Amino acid sequence: HDRPRVLSGIQPTADSFHLGNYLGALRNWVGLQDTHDAFYCVVDLHAITAGHEPKLLRQRTRVSAAQLLAIGIDPDRSTLFVQSQVPEHAQLAWVMNCITGFGEASRMTQFKDKSAKQGAERASVGLFTYPVLQAADILLYQADAVPVGEDQRQHLELTRDLAQRFNTNFGKTFVVPEPYIVRDTAKITDLQEPTAKMSKSASSPNGLIELLEDPARAAKKIKSAVTDTGREIVFDPETKPGVSNLLTIYSALTGRSIDDLVLAYAGKGYGDLKKDLAEVVAEFIRPIQERTKTYLEDPAQLDKLLAVGAEKARAVSSATLRRVYDRIGF
Ligand code: ADP
Ligand code: NA
Repeated sequence: HDRPRVLSGIQPTADSFHLGNYLGALRNWVGLQDTHDAFYCVVDLHAITAGHEPKLLRQRTRVSAAQLLAIGIDPDRSTLFVQSQVPEHAQLAWVMNCITGFGEASRMTQFKDKSAKQGAERASVGLFTYPVLQAADILLYQADAVPVGEDQRQHLELTRDLAQRFNTNFGKTFVVPEPYIVRDTAKITDLQEPTAKMSKSASSPNGLIELLEDPARAAKKIKSAVTDTGREIVFDPETKPGVSNLLTIYSALTGRSIDDLVLAYAGKGYGDLKKDLAEVVAEFIRPIQERTKTYLEDPAQLDKLLAVGAEKARAVSSATLRRVYDRIGF
């Protein structure tokens, strides 16, 4: 491959992706296809670390893949696949588990946070070794770059440590991946609680906009978004997180700069801004929903497309695993 290779994954743990996922991560996946040899996977192995319902997982895996296609992941240019269809992920994860220190894994703050929420005794060993599986996901494809948000930095550091350790102990085998810092990703906050990030685990369903929700409902949520005291439309995430979040979404979806928007809404009220943004959001999600629906209506075609993706992925991952097995004496 002559372009730098990039790998990224997303969990099929919701019925729909939300605007935070899209503007913070997935939109960038689409853009990276122009400059990188991209591998994108729906990480269902990761989605069973904290308990799940089989029927729901199967459904969400399909819907996730369909949404990725609908937003513009192009299976002819990129490799789009489902993680469990590529057995090398689990196979390499075991090898990496065996060169990861227990103490080292114990220092992962995401595990500490998540296991604290579930009750430390009840958290699964899978959740504990999740970052090691993530390392395997990346190293299998010899990825040069991994797009990372702040929350994933520590995990990528572990991946780099494990790659270097393996290379030192057994001979150069893995590319040591660099973090890819993305310029135009936006941090989107909760519509009802604008200092918290928009999340599928939000306290109120009115706080998030899902790509697959009824556009009229999405519009209603925008109109009832919590705004700040004062009436002026200015961008200041510190003192005016609500309005600033609306401006961020508006700017990201239209390509208009925040300054331009602030100028355009000078002398107007929050109601005007919300009304227009509600329309922008509805117009944005409608075609995504139509395309998602088209993919879901032809399950055989979707399965075939994902099978082709898995084959393409395996061409790379099986070559890496063979070298790893050879190095370690299998
Ligand atoms: P959630 O917070 O809903 O559980 P995930 O943790 O599954 O979402 O995140 C999937 C991807 O979307 C990650 O790359 C994450 O950084 C990004 N993301 C999630 N929420 C937001 C947000 N509110 N703003 C920007 N990016 C986000
Ligand atoms: Na999360």
